[in-house]
Amino acid sequence: MTTTLYQRLGGAEGIARLVDDAMAAHLDNPIVKPRFENTKDMEHAKRMAREFFCAGSGGPEVYTGKDMLAAHKGMNISEQEYLAVTDDIVGAMEKHGLSEDTKKDVIAILYSLKGSIIRV
Ligand code: HEM
Repeated sequence: MTTTLYQRLGGAEGIARLVDDAMAAHLDNPIVKPRFENTKDMEHAKRMAREFFCAGSGGPEVYTGKDMLAAHKGMNISEQEYLAVTDDIVGAMEKHGLSEDTKKDVIAILYSLKGSIIRV
């Protein structure tokens, strides 16, 4: 039987935990903290991240946010910031004991998005 990435991430609840932990890590990470500490509506930002990862990993949720290019256009995000955000997400997955295969699948998705995020 095949297991979707969504299932391996723990479904909507598991993804919500990962988003909470990744966002807490961003706010504690000097490289990207300035990008997130002034976010006006943190609940909205986290909801968008939850929807994005749920929909993108095979879950039934619909992503209602902007595409990655529109979301990050004009922010001049650096390679270092991109790597810092990726590190925080990997750290959250490690905290929850997710398997190597699951981590690799998420890293591959994040990597595929870099052209729509870095210096756009
Ligand atoms: C690594 C892959 C990344 C993914 C999958 C991702 C995903 C998202 C999503 C889904 C949104 C919400 C879009 C919307 O509101 O419609 C968003 C917004 C945002 N992203 Fe990213 N992002 C990534 C990398 C980054 C990086 C590297 C930075 C900066 C260091 C960044 C900074 C932001 C900021 C500041 C917002 C707007 C937050 C707000 O004020 O609501 N993102 N991102």
